[in-house]
Amino acid sequence: MQYPKELTDALELIWGEGMLSPGGPEKVADMLEGTDLSDHHVLDIGSGLGGIDMLLAAKHGAASVIGIDVEPRLIESARDLAAKRGLSGRVTFQLVTPGKLPFVDSSFDLVFSKDAMLHIADKLALYLEVLRVLKPGGTFIAADFFWSEGAAESGVVNAWLGKSQSDFEFTPPAVALRALIEAGFAEPSVTDLRQELQKANRKEVALLKGPVGQKLSAILGAEIAEMRLTNAERRQAALDSGDLIPCHLRARRPS
Ligand SMILES: C[S@@+](CC[C@H](N)C(=O)[O-])C[C@H]1O[C@@H](n2cnc3c(N)ncnc32)[C@H](O)[C@@H]1O
Repeated sequence: MQYPKELTDALELIWGEGMLSPGGPEKVADMLEGTDLSDHHVLDIGSGLGGIDMLLAAKHGAASVIGIDVEPRLIESARDLAAKRGLSGRVTFQLVTPGKLPFVDSSFDLVFSKDAMLHIADKLALYLEVLRVLKPGGTFIAADFFWSEGAAESGVVNAWLGKSQSDFEFTPPAVALRALIEAGFAEPSVTDLRQELQKANRKEVALLKGPVGQKLSAILGAEIAEMRLTNAERRQAALDSGDLIPCHLRARRPS
């Protein structure tokens, strides 16, 4: 289990109900900029606690959203959240095993993923599956983390990963771009967001040193609050060194 309850409780307190990754609703809106989701059938890969899937349906107007994840507890919680928000009819969740996506060809108008594909090592196999389940002309939008050539030996990266509770499968962004092209996507782009994330992470560190840290400490205990702060500070060092490279991916299945 990569996302135990003590970790997801802390991440929700930082990012909001159902959200396990940085940025909240603004970040999701930013990723979707220029994409009209009305009438869209959407697949969200690595849906976690489902907060993003609620946004895709309720705020961005997707006709249907299927969130998939590998952790049963997260799927159960995401279903509970959809029921609580009255969205169970349009937003559903499915437990999957890593590998082939359990959907027939050409099922979705949009395949979305936020900060989840860093757990999947074989980018070409992953993107081939994304392309397969997209309808012709459909869109792939993801936020993912990569690293620089040689980052495996970087002291700051290893200091951060040593504190991390999750297993990450990083590649350089160029590997992802090549894999998108090789998979057969049209208009592939991998946009480096280091500057933006450096700023956002600094804000997270400040929050963890201030009101959010106090809230975490009061609700989850001082040890967990301290662990989140150390993690964010070490992530900051990995971002500032240039070795950790957050990116937005966009591509289209040819019509
Ligand atoms: C950092 S969380 C992000 C969750 C969600 N996208 C969000 O931003 O709130 C990463 C998620 O990816 C899921 N995950 C890991 N490997 C996966 C795989 N092979 N297929 C689908 N989901 C996976 C994890 O269980 C976790 O819920």
